[in-house]
Amino acid sequence: MTSIEPINIGGQVVYPVDCLEAFKKIGSCSVDNISTSPPYNLGGFHSNEKKRAYFGFSDDMTEQEYRGFIYKVIDECHRVLKPTGSFFLNMKTKIFDGISIPPYWVVANDFNLKQEIIWHYPSTANVDKVRFYPLFEYVFWFIKDPKNFKFNDEWAIVGNVWKINHMTDRNEAKMTWKDKVIQHPAIFPTQLAQATILSTTSEGDTVLDPFVGSGTTLKVCRHYKRKGIGFDKYFSEYEELARKRIMSDKFPETLLEMKKAGKKGVEKDEADGSMEKFMK
Ligand SMILES: C[S@@+](CC[C@H](N)C(=O)[O-])C[C@H]1O[C@@H](n2cnc3c(N)ncnc32)[C@H](O)[C@@H]1O
Repeated sequence: MTSIEPINIGGQVVYPVDCLEAFKKIGSCSVDNISTSPPYNLGGFHSNEKKRAYFGFSDDMTEQEYRGFIYKVIDECHRVLKPTGSFFLNMKTKIFDGISIPPYWVVANDFNLKQEIIWHYPSTANVDKVRFYPLFEYVFWFIKDPKNFKFNDEWAIVGNVWKINHMTDRNEAKMTWKDKVIQHPAIFPTQLAQATILSTTSEGDTVLDPFVGSGTTLKVCRHYKRKGIGFDKYFSEYEELARKRIMSDKFPETLLEMKKAGKKGVEKDEADGSMEKFMK
């Protein structure tokens, strides 16, 4: 049986269990911000052993089961979020058999959709020449009360298209497919977590990530003095990497700092030396 005992990493807390179990430990209306990127559920498409090893989890529910699971998670997020809190949900369009399946269905829930944010990246591994290269993901910003929500309004100037490099951490973690030491396949960029957390919380506030993976949100929480709580059913596979990242003090400039400095390009993330800035 998996442990429900929390792990403390630099003052940040991780429950290494299924999120629906871990949510039971969290009081109603107790967190200020939820920032998360759920498993993609790439279905049978990635069900062979090599891909399983790569993804670290089976990720093979039917689409119907997957949507039911995500709706349960969203319900729990609604329960634990304070009335003034914000919930940022990163999802992307999946492509099955050449057909696009956008994630608009997640919008049907008890939250109010405050805004759609586009995370735009300069390149992709998906370079089949049968479509325009897919270069963005959604970040849905949900709130409970449109008349009373916390927003650090200096962030407004950043706009709702966030140009951020795809973060891989391969350099930092020395990951390779061959050696099977890839410790997490879907790390989201530090700049993304900086933006969702710093724009809607203050020091001392509590932030939850129900799918914490390699610990990006907790890394941001530790550095900027927020109380982070993360869940991950497969955390033992990423713990070493997560510890390294949460305790790291290497940070990219925030999107707000870049905007104020008049920079339009994409900042390299702290560990990603492989991508060039793209300027517009
Ligand atoms: C897209 S990744 C999140 C990556 C994270 N944002 C980061 O920066 O590393 C989704 C994560 O959900 C975890 N996961 C999958 N099913 C889960 C479940 N039922 N409960 C909790 N975590 C789960 C996976 O182990 C994976 O780390």
